[in-house]
Amino acid sequence: LYPVFSVFLLSWPISHFFAESSSRTRLVGGHHRCEGRVEVERNGQWGTVCDDGWGMKDVEVVCRELGCGAATGTPSGTLYKPLAEKDQKVLIQAVNCSGMESKLIHCEQEEDVFDCSHNEDAGAMCEKQMLHLSFPIVPETVRLVGGPGRCKGRVEVKHQEQWGTVCKAGWNLSAAKVVCWQLGCGRATLTQRCCNKDTQGQGPIWLSKVSCSGQEESLQDCPSALWGKNNCTHDEDTCVECEDPFDLRLVGGDTRCSGRLEVLHKGEWGSVCDDGWGEKEEKVVCKQLGCGESILLSAKARRNFGLGAGRIWLDDVHCSGKEQSLEQCRHRFWGHHNCNHKEDVATDKNNNKSHTIQLLNMRTKSILKIIELTPLY
Ligand SMILES: *[C@@H]1O[C@H](CO)[C@@H](O)[C@H](O)[C@H]1NC(C)=O
Ligand SMILES: *[C@@H]1O[C@H](CO)[C@@H](O)[C@H](O)[C@H]1NC(C)=O
Ligand SMILES: *[C@@H]1O[C@H](CO)[C@@H](O)[C@H](O)[C@H]1NC(C)=O
Ligand SMILES: *[C@@H]1O[C@H](CO)[C@@H](O)[C@H](O)[C@H]1NC(C)=O
Repeated sequence: LYPVFSVFLLSWPISHFFAESSSRTRLVGGHHRCEGRVEVERNGQWGTVCDDGWGMKDVEVVCRELGCGAATGTPSGTLYKPLAEKDQKVLIQAVNCSGMESKLIHCEQEEDVFDCSHNEDAGAMCEKQMLHLSFPIVPETVRLVGGPGRCKGRVEVKHQEQWGTVCKAGWNLSAAKVVCWQLGCGRATLTQRCCNKDTQGQGPIWLSKVSCSGQEESLQDCPSALWGKNNCTHDEDTCVECEDPFDLRLVGGDTRCSGRLEVLHKGEWGSVCDDGWGEKEEKVVCKQLGCGESILLSAKARRNFGLGAGRIWLDDVHCSGKEQSLEQCRHRFWGHHNCNHKEDVATDKNNNKSHTIQLLNMRTKSILKIIELTPLY
C-alpha cells in the first residue's frame, strides 16, 4: 500500500507541479537500471519515446534524471527484450534536449506522435554508478589510478592538461582524507608508498611536500612545493586507499526518491537506524541520490513505507551537511546499533525505526510543502 500525499502549495501553480511530479522515466530490459529502452509514464501508463532526433544530449538528461553515471550510448530500444507491448503507446516524438535539463519532460519535444512505431523506440546507456551530483560540475583534477575501483590507487593530479604523480615527502593521512573527500569516496583507510614497481607512475611528478590539515576542499588547496619542482623519483609515488562509496536506495515509496533508506554492505541491503538522524543527514542522502531537497517525516508517516527487515547496518550517523555522500559522515561500525525492527513494529511511539525519507524533486520549488500525509488504508 502506498501513501497518498495531500500536497498544499503556497503559490506554485498546481498544474505545473502535478504535470512534473507525475512524470516518471525508467529504463527497461538492460543489464542494470541505468541501461535499457526509455519509458515514460503518462496517466499511469508506461509508453516509449520515438528516436527521431534522439542523441547523446537526450541520454545525458535521462541518466541525470535517474541518478545514474555518465551517458555512454544511444542504443535502439529494440535491442532490449522483451520489446515494448503492442498496446504501449509511443508517447513522445522528436525530443530535443539541450543537455542541461534535470528531467526528460523538461526537454523540448513533440507530444503529437504521428509516424513512429516501436521499431523506433529510443534507448539509453548510462554508467551504473551513482552520480555524486556536485562532482561532474567541477573539472576532474585528482584521480586514483590502478584501483581496484576509483577509490584506491596512485594519486595523480592534473596540471597543464597533463596527469602527474605526487611525491610521498610530507604526505600524511590528512592529505589522504582530502583526496578521498574530493573524489566522493569514503574515509581514508590507508596511505602508503606505491611499493610495487607495477603501480608506479611514469609521467611528471607534479607535487611534493603537500601539507594538508584535512579540512581543505581539494588537494590543490593544500600548501605544497611548486608544481614540478622537486627531486623525487617515482619510487616515492603516493598511493591512497579510501572506502568505497555507499550504495544507497529508498524502498517502499512510489518514486525512487521516497521510501525507507537502505544501504548495501557486504552484498546485503540493510536499514539505517534513526538515532540522531536529522536534516543534515537527510540532506546528504538527497544529494547523493540526486533527489532534490528532503522533507523529514513524522514516525507515523514513515510507517507507510513498511518496516525494514534484515540487517540494521548503520546507527548514530552524524553529518555536517557538507558531505557529498553518506560514507563521509561519522557512524558506528557496520552492524553495531541499539535499534530493533521488531520492537519498532510493536510500539507505535518508538521512534527508533529504520529511517524513511520523503523527497520531492523541488530544486527550484522550495515553496512547496507537504503538510499532511494520509495513508491509503
Ligand atoms: C533543438 O534545439 C536547438 C535550440 O535549443 C535548435 O537550435 C535546434 O534546431 C533544435 N533541433 C531540432 C531538430 O529541432
Ligand atoms: C599532516 O600534516 C599537516 C601539516 O604538515 C598537519 O597539520 C596535520 O595535522 C598532519 N596530519 C596528521 C594526521 O598527522
Ligand atoms: C634538488 O637537489 C639539488 C642537488 O641536491 C638541490 O640543489 C636542489 O635544491 C634540489 N631541489 C629541490 C626542489 O629540492
Ligand atoms: C531509542 O532506543 C534507545 C535505547 O534502545 C532509547 O533509550 C531511546 O529512548 C529510544 N528513542 C526513542 C525516540 O524512542
